[in-house]
Amino acid sequence: MSDFPLFPEQASTVAWQVDLIYFTLVALSIFFSVAVAAAIVFFALRYRQGADVDRSHPLIEHTKLELTWSIIPFIMAMGVFGWAAMVFVDIKTPPADATEIYIIGKQWMWQAQHPSGKREINQLHIPINTPVKLIMTSQDVIHDFYIPVFRVKQDVVPGRYTTLWFQATKTGEFHLFCAEYCGTEHSAMVGTVVVMEQSEFKNWLGGGSSDEPLAVAGERLFTENGCITCHSGEPGAIGPPISNVSIFGTEVEFADGSTGTVDEAYLRESILDPQAKVVAGYAPVMPSYDGQLSEQSLLQLIEFLKTK
Ligand code: CUA
Repeated sequence: MSDFPLFPEQASTVAWQVDLIYFTLVALSIFFSVAVAAAIVFFALRYRQGADVDRSHPLIEHTKLELTWSIIPFIMAMGVFGWAAMVFVDIKTPPADATEIYIIGKQWMWQAQHPSGKREINQLHIPINTPVKLIMTSQDVIHDFYIPVFRVKQDVVPGRYTTLWFQATKTGEFHLFCAEYCGTEHSAMVGTVVVMEQSEFKNWLGGGSSDEPLAVAGERLFTENGCITCHSGEPGAIGPPISNVSIFGTEVEFADGSTGTVDEAYLRESILDPQAKVVAGYAPVMPSYDGQLSEQSLLQLIEFLKTK
């Protein structure tokens, strides 16, 4: 990790695919650049002024030739497009059973928190050969979470959740960068990804400081902030039932007749901007908690609602 090789090693399941696309594009570019340059040089020399060559029948049109040099590159370009699109979809679609870790970006550090409560700054410990999904947000400006050896990168945006997933294939310590200019200390917003054997990771997760699990902290916030008063689920309650049922992943109908799935983004929006999507059958009376809950608290509440 101390040296600076031309290319980072490949340490995730998608890394070789991303590289193969890149090298294919480079190879195609070199091939066509050389072919065009060679043709230019050849014709420039052969038909230079004063050269003794036949110029009596200049070729004005050659449909077959033109079709050939249009159709073949078209097929090649569409082939690369289709191939890259498949890899892109793969990179953007986390498996359902992925291990989830929450990431908060802030000027100028990365904070990671595992659902067990374990927290780390500018470090991310993950198990090898396991799909890992990051649910990320920013506390201030746009950052960008970038792990070169995994060939993955995703903007981290204030006010919303973005996700990133990967599956590490090598143990070791790797660079983690912020790849979006975010202020004075942007270049110092770096960290280390530590890929561990699965058993080692379990030990690491269980050892050390006894941070409270996210869901437990979330449950406490749920009570402290009075959520439970309106969302008790008892008859006549002001808000839709939450404390006595599992709502995450369910479909809900809104007052305007539209429907939606209860996911991280929806829960976040409903806490910060409750009037945005009011559940059908309820009055729009919930106060906004915007500015009253930190990103950390929001994640704890969401994890509580997700796991109950
Ligand atoms: Cu955060 Cu650049």
